[in-house]
Parts: sequence; structure tokens; C-alpha cells
Amino acid sequence: MNVLVTAGPTREAIDPVRFVSNRSSGRMGYALAAAARRAGHAVRLVSGPVALDPPPGVRLVRVVSAADMLAAVEQNLPWCDLLVMAAAVADWRPKHPAAHKLKKADGPPVIEWEPAPDILAAIAPRKKSSQVFCGFAAETRALAREAKRKLREKHLDVIAANDVSRSDRGFDSDRNELAVFFAGGPVRRIPLARKSVCAARLISWLEKIAAKKK
Ligand code: CTP
Repeated sequence: MNVLVTAGPTREAIDPVRFVSNRSSGRMGYALAAAARRAGHAVRLVSGPVALDPPPGVRLVRVVSAADMLAAVEQNLPWCDLLVMAAAVADWRPKHPAAHKLKKADGPPVIEWEPAPDILAAIAPRKKSSQVFCGFAAETRALAREAKRKLREKHLDVIAANDVSRSDRGFDSDRNELAVFFAGGPVRRIPLARKSVCAARLISWLEKIAAKKK
């Protein structure tokens, strides 16, 4: 099948030299793209700025901001059977990025914020019934409750929740532990393991859901 994966953080400009971003390393998304490729699928990877080499055989689309990522996802959406949104997309962005570097002598900047595009919300109306959408939930508390809310509100088939408050897993780590919630189904756990192992298992579950929709 055709698999579209998003990975990494986004960057939202404050001025030409500064941005707001987050601690996502992109490793979970890259591991998912690699696992899907190894399983024989055609894979496109939309990636925010990360320090990783693209997995072999995967078509890489580099983006910077949430708006860029939305455009790249929209462009590749009709092509994909499975979308895995592992990217840590900004929720907010500066409303008026400065055209020139903010100067220290001007004092602490007051930044006005506006919502960045919510990619899953934007594409939900265009989802085909044969397509499978899997999101990720990055949580520091109330993981199960928040994951179930996002599964419902973002019209997902599956959401993989990870605890991003711990240094030995999740954000910026080689390892992860996932609680995977299925729409109208049970929760299944992937115990702490290398992200490549978590990714292979999640992809195998998503393949089964996609096969049922065919
Ligand atoms: N996501 C998205 N567009 C955004 C933010 C998030 O498509 N602007 C996607 C992420 O890629 C992920 C899912 O939504 O698959 C959940 O992201 P998360 O950051 O955990 O949730 P938020 O929607 O930001 O909600 P909250 O701030 O309440 O945690």
C-alpha cells in the first residue's frame, strides 16, 4: 500500500533568525517510514527539520512550518492508503513574524500568537472511507483520557500515545513505549523498546486495519 508518514518538529518564525519549535527528534516518524518500507510499502516521508538521514527507498519531502507541512500532506493525501501523523506540529505561531532581526536594545519582544493549522482537523473532511489515519498523542499526564479524546475529535482510526515527560522514552530518545488506542476497539500496548521495534509492530497492526477496509 501507499504510506504517508509525517515526522519531526515544525518551526514557526519569530524573525529571520529565530523560531519556536519543540523537542521532537523525528526518530519515531523515521522509524515508521523505515518499517513501512521494509514491509514492502511505497513510502513518502514529510519531515520537519531533523538531523537524520532518510531511510533508504523512501521519498523525502522536507518542510519547515506547520503551514508547509499541511500543504505537503494535502498534496500527497489522495495518493495514500495509510497516513501516520507522527510529527510534533506547532499549535501556535507568531501572528506577525518580524521582517528584520529583533534587536536586543528594543527590549523583550511581546509576541502575538495565532493558531497554527491543525493538519488532521483540516484534512478530516477529505478522508476516503478506504483510508486509514493514525495519529500520535504526546502527553505528560492523563495519557489515556487525552489519547481517547484526540482519537475521537481528530476522526482517527488509531492513535498511539506516548509519555513525553520521561528522558528514557518518547521525545528525543531511541526508545519508546506506546499505548495504542483503536476506534471502537481495545487498547494495546507496545512495551518499552527501540523505536524500530515499536514502529514495526505498529505498522503491522495498521496493515491489518487497512486490509479490513479494502
Ligand atoms: N497535529 C496536527 N496539527 C497540529 C497539531 C497536532 O495534525 N497543529 C497532530 C499530530 O501530528 C498528532 C496529533 O495531531 O498526530 C496529536 O498531536 P498532539 O500534539 O498530541 O495534540 P494537540 O492536537 O496539539 O492537542 P493538545 O495541545 O491538547 O495536546
